[in-house]
Amino acid sequence: MRLTTSPREAALALAAEHLVGLPTETVYGLGGRADSPLAVARIYAAKGRPADHPLIVHVADADAAWQWASEVSPAARALAATCWPGPLTIVLARSSRAGDFITGGQSTVAVRVPAHPVMREVLAELAVVTGDTAIGIAAPSANRFGKVSPTTASHVLDELDDVTSDDDLVLDGGSSEVGVESTIVDCTGDAPVLLRPGRISAQQLEDITGQALGTRTHVRAPGMLASHYAPAARVRIVTAAELAHAATASGNSLTMGVLAAADIPTPPNTVRLAAPRDTDDYARVLYQALREADALQLTTVLAVAPGEAGIGAAIIDRLNRAASGA
Ligand code: TXA
Ligand code: MG
Repeated sequence: MRLTTSPREAALALAAEHLVGLPTETVYGLGGRADSPLAVARIYAAKGRPADHPLIVHVADADAAWQWASEVSPAARALAATCWPGPLTIVLARSSRAGDFITGGQSTVAVRVPAHPVMREVLAELAVVTGDTAIGIAAPSANRFGKVSPTTASHVLDELDDVTSDDDLVLDGGSSEVGVESTIVDCTGDAPVLLRPGRISAQQLEDITGQALGTRTHVRAPGMLASHYAPAARVRIVTAAELAHAATASGNSLTMGVLAAADIPTPPNTVRLAAPRDTDDYARVLYQALREADALQLTTVLAVAPGEAGIGAAIIDRLNRAASGA
């Protein structure tokens, strides 16, 4: 993979069915033309992702998104009007644009209008180059299957450089602002159903749609495995009160990392991986901290979870998955 800072170069590479590591406000994605079975097959191969795990299609605006769907509920329209461009993915019944190679053979498609200005430029350029204003970019997070999502261009290189080709690119757009993957909401049924927590909270989804979230869904969201987002180090979730005691197990060797809010002190003989100021900051530094633990070859990460308000629920979700990876 080659690093670039040019959205136009990225769009030309995508048009030619190459892969591009792309900055989004949530995490970096590994992008390919969503209308190209070849590009999409290469995404699955590079990630080592099972073929029945469907991909999110990224588009320029809601009008483009609806072209990938056969039916758009009022809830979906309300969410799009309020949250797009932004960190929300909406699952809808698919139109003929969404091939089986994107949806894992399901009758639904996941669409998102990203907010990152560099990514938006890529989408705009790609629409010009292809002459298709509804052109989509299929992009899962740009990590090996089951691993921690990347939030910088250099994380993408670390993850995927040796399983991609010299014609593939990574577009550097700085550090991802949100830091955890988009909220996914299933809008195929009577009531919207939360499939993956993210920056847009369950409460916001209810406020925006004026509907209580449902729990019944026929939609399968593979990829929401118990073990995911897992570093090599073992992740243990502890309370602030348990932290000091848990850390005594490290003895005098620096084998334990600590991830906790700034006002929680670092126990002796541990490595402070991050000291986030607030919950949004916690999300932003979470994956970088887990990567740092592996770079330092720590055996354990002791994480004090934030409260579940706002993006806190998404952080708790990712920490639980990382913790069950041991
Ligand atoms: O923030 C994000 O969503 C990032 C950036 C790059 O946009 N992308 C991302 O993609 O996290 P990925 O592939 O790592 O996670 C997508 C999730 C998977 O769990 C997948 O199963 C689910 O979305 N998904 C995709 N299409 C679906 C569909 N039609 N129905 C249900 N779930 C779907
Ligand atoms: Mg992922």
